[in-house]
Amino acid sequence: MSNNIEGKVVVITGASSGLGEAAARLLSAQGATVVLGARRTDRIKSLADELNRKGGKALAMTTDVVHFDQVKRLVDAALQTYGKIDVMINNAGLMPHSPLERLKIGDWDRVIDVNIKGVLYGIAAALPYMKKQKSGHIINVSSVAGHKIRPGIAVYAATKHAVRVISEGLRQEVKPYNIRTTIISPGAVATELPNSITEPDIAENTHKFYKDIAIPADSFARAVAFAMSQPDDVDINEVLFRPTRQEF
Ligand SMILES: NC(=O)c1ccc[n+]([C@@H]2O[C@H](COP(=O)([O-])OP(=O)(O)OC[C@H]3O[C@@H](n4cnc5c(N)ncnc54)[C@H](OP(=O)(O)O)[C@@H]3O)[C@@H](O)[C@H]2O)c1
Repeated sequence: MSNNIEGKVVVITGASSGLGEAAARLLSAQGATVVLGARRTDRIKSLADELNRKGGKALAMTTDVVHFDQVKRLVDAALQTYGKIDVMINNAGLMPHSPLERLKIGDWDRVIDVNIKGVLYGIAAALPYMKKQKSGHIINVSSVAGHKIRPGIAVYAATKHAVRVISEGLRQEVKPYNIRTTIISPGAVATELPNSITEPDIAENTHKFYKDIAIPADSFARAVAFAMSQPDDVDINEVLFRPTRQEF
């Protein structure tokens, strides 16, 4: 019986570490073709080489999601190399937490560009093909911070709320095209994400919080596989998961 993953062409942004890398590994092991985008070319190329050596199909392409032309080139490469795109995972993201009063305007600009506009660019790159195919699946990565807010995370939480709002709007709009949409909202997962915090005191606290409770990144990969593997007429619209020990 098909797992509804085997043979699918899956484009993943932010595939050079953390959640994106874990999803690439699991989906490749389950027979998907993966097209990997991120800025750290060496990382995605060596991941693609490793997956190809293991008998999978993988392609790496340097992609900065703040530039629409680069995201389009990534999706076009999937089309040109493999003839279709079944799943677009808009995963690339940053989490430069700080209280608003510290006025980290450069951080605000970057996190809005990557976490919101990067997701929109991924949708813009994939949607025309999926409309034409009359099939597809767009998976956007939000967060527990897309559901909740607390001091010090306002801008990041705003971007992750935005991802959920955009995804729900997309869900309602793509009904005529047989496209599925999934929001995945993780809690603390052990990745390189806290490294994007530029304030040393906040970085230290966040690293400690993650060290205490974060769960492995394959938790996310399994959520992706769950959503993808449903029959085509079943659309898993949102998955929210946390470490069992996480209160927030
Ligand atoms: N880990 C968690 O606890 C957690 C919880 C909730 C939500 N999330 C979300 O999960 C997603 C993945 O994060 P992660 O936890 O896996 O962290 P991570 O290990 O730091 O990975 C982030 C990924 O995003 C990529 N990225 C950053 N800026 C980019 C840009 N401008 N263009 C292209 N790629 C870019 C990075 O690649 P390059 O640096 O090579 O470009 C990297 O592959 C993010 O959206 C994050 O907000 C994570």
